[in-house]
Amino acid sequence: SGAVAVLTAAGSGSRLGAGYPKALVELAGCSLVGHAASRLCATGEIEGLVVTAPAEHLATFHAALAAAPGLTVPWQVVPGGTSRQASVAAGLAALDEARDPASVYDVVLVHDAARPLAPPAMMRRIIFAVRSGHSAVVPGLAVTDTIKRVDAALPGSAVTVPAALGATAHGTAAYGAATPDVAGGVLLVAGTVDRTTLRAVQTPQGFAWDLLLRAHAAGAGRAGAEATAATDDSALVEALGESVWIVDGDARAMKITTSQDLALAQILVQTEET
Ligand code: C5P
Repeated sequence: SGAVAVLTAAGSGSRLGAGYPKALVELAGCSLVGHAASRLCATGEIEGLVVTAPAEHLATFHAALAAAPGLTVPWQVVPGGTSRQASVAAGLAALDEARDPASVYDVVLVHDAARPLAPPAMMRRIIFAVRSGHSAVVPGLAVTDTIKRVDAALPGSAVTVPAALGATAHGTAAYGAATPDVAGGVLLVAGTVDRTTLRAVQTPQGFAWDLLLRAHAAGAGRAGAEATAATDDSALVEALGESVWIVDGDARAMKITTSQDLALAQILVQTEET
C-alpha cells in the first residue's frame, strides 16, 4: 500500500493577470505546477500522481510537467471540473481507475499548484500522521492578523458613506462627493474572533484513501443550498462528522494569488535549501 496525490491546477488564476493559467507561470525556470509536482515526488512516498488542468490546456500542462525535475512516478493530466471540489473528484476517479486492482492506496494527498513551494518535509509529516491513524490531516499556521466577523446579511452592512458624511468629517464638499477612500463601501463589524482558536490551513491535505472517497461522494450528493462550496477537502470530511487534525504548516507553503505573492515566492525559491 502506498500514497498517491491529486494536484489541482485547473483554475484560471485570473487574479494574477498573466493571461494564461496561473499554474503555468514560471518561477526560477519551472512552472508552478511543476514545482508542486517535483516536491510531491521528492517525499519519496508518492507512487502515483494525477494533475487536474483546464480542459483546453491539457497538452501544455503535459509539456510543463514533462519538463519538471524528478517526476519519477507514473503521472497523468486530466481535465478539471467547474469547481475545485469537482476537479479533486475527477482526480480521485482517475487515480482509482489507474489503481492495480490487487493493490490498495493507504494515503492520498490533495495539493494545489497555487502552493508550489510547500516543502517535502511538511508533506512527509502529513503522510506519516495519516499512517499513524489520523485519517484527515491538514497543515495549519497560527493567524497573525486580528480577524473581524462581518454580517453580510445585515441590512446596510455594505453601505457607501454618503457624501455628507465625507463633507462633515473632512470639511470639504469635494472630498465628500468623490469619497475615494470608501469607494468599496463600509462594512459593519459583527464581532472580533479570538485568533488563538484559529488556524490558516494550507495544502497538501492528507487523508486515508477510503475516507476521502466517501467524503467526496457525500459532497457531490449534497444538493442546492446545503451544498455550500467547500474550499478545501477537509471540510467535506468534517461534514461527515469525522475528525480532522492539524499539523504544523510552513510559511513556504504560501498560496500564490496575486503578483505580490509571486514576487515573494521568487525570493523564497532563491533561498530554498534543496
Ligand atoms: O481558486 P482557488 O485559489 O481556490 O484554487 C485553488 C486550487 O484549485 C488551484 O490550484 C486551482 O488551480 C485549483 N482549481 C481546480 N479546478 C477549478 C478551480 C480551481 O483545479 N475548477
